[in-house]
Amino acid sequence: LPIFVREGSKIIEPIKSMPGVNRYSVDKLSVILDKVKKYKIPMVAIFPYISSKKKNIYGTEALNRDNLICKSLKIIKKKYPNIGVMCDVALDPYTSHGHDGILIDNKIDNDETIKILIKQALLQAEMGCDVVAPSDMMDGRIGKIRKSLDKNGYQMTQILSYAVKYASSFYGPFRDAVGSKGLLKNNKKNYQMDFKNKDEALREVSLDIKEGADIVMIKPGLPYLDIIRSVKENFKIPVMAYQVSGEYSLLCNAINKDLITKNAVIESLIAFKRAGANAIVSYYADRIDKILK
Ligand code: PBG
Repeated sequence: LPIFVREGSKIIEPIKSMPGVNRYSVDKLSVILDKVKKYKIPMVAIFPYISSKKKNIYGTEALNRDNLICKSLKIIKKKYPNIGVMCDVALDPYTSHGHDGILIDNKIDNDETIKILIKQALLQAEMGCDVVAPSDMMDGRIGKIRKSLDKNGYQMTQILSYAVKYASSFYGPFRDAVGSKGLLKNNKKNYQMDFKNKDEALREVSLDIKEGADIVMIKPGLPYLDIIRSVKENFKIPVMAYQVSGEYSLLCNAINKDLITKNAVIESLIAFKRAGANAIVSYYADRIDKILK
């Protein structure tokens, strides 16, 4: 289950573009984490929504030892030690331009970005993160992050690589949820994948496995079931698939307008499973139980 955290206290703020999904201030996280525990959801993915005052071109807030992610990690790991936590390694919630890395001459600079991502991943591991999840799509970051985690005593911290992440229109509501939507100039095609490409997915996965990824992510989900299948058939590695914000909001709006029944949610999740996904990230995770009943 992805969870959005925000600053402030006593706040549970609905996200307009994602009906049924909220941003929680850290002191209110228990409201959603109690559900996670009750429904035995094995892992949560936490994403920060920070004020624009804290954003800058380098995304330095990502390395602040007292940032929202660090605060959330400490609380979750203390109060809910059995809930796994994965954290995005990427700069987009923190940059004033909404990109995942460092902009140099109007392009994301791969190697300068990796230098910061290594520090971000290490900080998350230090704070108790179980699975660091680079979702930035820079080349070569998995090996470098693995090396630095090992060197610093975090051999047990897993790496979930967003190995196959397409430059997709389906991320729209998420960018709204982390507050990067209005800031983003141009698009992310300089580092995310072209949705017309299939074999590139296999190349990306094989590189990341060689560099030390424990799990690979494919994203978005439903429009890319063929990719899930083909990664599953070609590699012996756990494959996770992400039912992203746009997929969620489409389903949600159609259900709310009575165009389709909520059984469509289960149908879509079973499709992931049929394609070969070993695990699914879904904004519906905390409500599937009710739908099944
Ligand atoms: C950014 C990131 C994105 C998502 C997860 N991490 C958006 C993007 O690449 O712009 C999308 C998730 C969703 O749409 O639900 N590193």
